[in-house]
Amino acid sequence: MPSETLTITDNRTGKQYEISIKNGAIKATDLFQIRISEEEGLVSYDPGFMNTASCQSKITYIDGDRGILRYRGYPIEQIAEKSSYLETAYLILYGELPNKTQLEDWTHNITFHSIIHENIKKVIDSFHHEAHPMGVLISTVGALSTFYPEAKKIFDVKTRRAQTYRLISKMPTLAGFAYRHSLGLPYSYPDNDLSYTGNFLNMLFKMTELKYKPNPVLERALDILFILHADHEQNCSANAMRSVGSSQVDPYSAVAAAAAALYGPLHGGANEAVLRMLMEIGSKDKVPEFIKKVKGGEGRLMGFGHRVYKNYDPRAKIIKEIADQVFEVRGRNPLLDIALELERIALSDDYFIKRKLYPNVDFYSGLIYQSMGLPMDMFPVLFAIPRTAGWIAQWEEMLMDADQKLARPKQVYLGAEIRDYVPMEKRS
Ligand code: ACO
Repeated sequence: MPSETLTITDNRTGKQYEISIKNGAIKATDLFQIRISEEEGLVSYDPGFMNTASCQSKITYIDGDRGILRYRGYPIEQIAEKSSYLETAYLILYGELPNKTQLEDWTHNITFHSIIHENIKKVIDSFHHEAHPMGVLISTVGALSTFYPEAKKIFDVKTRRAQTYRLISKMPTLAGFAYRHSLGLPYSYPDNDLSYTGNFLNMLFKMTELKYKPNPVLERALDILFILHADHEQNCSANAMRSVGSSQVDPYSAVAAAAAALYGPLHGGANEAVLRMLMEIGSKDKVPEFIKKVKGGEGRLMGFGHRVYKNYDPRAKIIKEIADQVFEVRGRNPLLDIALELERIALSDDYFIKRKLYPNVDFYSGLIYQSMGLPMDMFPVLFAIPRTAGWIAQWEEMLMDADQKLARPKQVYLGAEIRDYVPMEKRS
């Protein structure tokens, strides 16, 4: 049996070190013994965590080269076909598919926590009508911590369960209210007779009718989109959730931090960029010209390429099918033809083939949301709602992991050496 170790020779000193390898990883702290002086041991320098595992996890598995995504071992294709978002959230959070009673209890608990305190409504009222709904969501989910001070008891399992119900249940309500506020429409309150996504559509789109009836195709399409966005292992916002949560703050504050991370255009904002790109191209015949520009280094083909997937993003395949179903109900999105032409040309072009650039989840999701009547400002909000289950699962896993500590990276200091304070009159 080959030894599960790594031998390192420090050429500065000629010393050799043997470091153990476990689960394909070395411990960065084992490098600390490699030193030339008493003070500082060797550290690994890894901006953006390009090759650093910050945790061990049992939640989501991705194999980017083979285009594989699994939640708790189940392939995303099977979950999207057979499951619902709430069942998927249960699976992600608790590790197993629920039995019938567990699913009924879970669904009941999520459904019956959807009302928000009227004072939160006043917080939403106080935002300018042009306030970005994602800014409203981040603020109000953070504000929820002041309504549930017991949430600070993060090591109490019952308290954690209660906040889990509240967070998954109230995120759509906060999002729906933020959307209605931006339009100056009266808030539409949760309807407990509807499904998770049916109720969300009700909170977005109900007008004067006494009872909102969601279109079943759109309701299911949104449910599948929520399944596809429920978790994606150690992405930027999951890392924010774990990092902020490691200070042992309450989960509402940590979710606010994770949502803030998602707000950035490099993370949750790519589908908006895709729509803007399609509108800028304008028509199918302009696609070859656009591709030529991208190949010449003028901008990127948005919705293509991924840090992890070097193959077709498995979520993009599923989303493409949903797009067809939504367009059948809502009419064909005129930007679809441009998107299809871009995909057709890019997938047969050497530039994209060589660099393993394939459509990612964002290439079609924006088109679907737009067809459902949702403005681009709502896109990151539509991402944050389902991702809440993933954030909480990552947070709980972190809390229960004895290896985890307060997240506090090291730095490589390159600044000034010690020097004496210069009085104002002597400064240039
Ligand atoms: N269009 C054109 N060229 C691209 C694209 C693209 N979308 N993506 C990567 N490339 C090229 C780069 O120019 C580079 O070429 P070079 O080797 O000649 O310099 C090569 O492919 C590798 O690119 P990197 O930037 O090193 O790849 P990285 O893994 O860091 O980038 C990223 C991944 C950021 C997603 C990139 O593909 C991109 O910008 N895509 C467009 C934005 C997008 O769709 N983001 C959503 C991602 S999905 C999500 O976050 C939910």
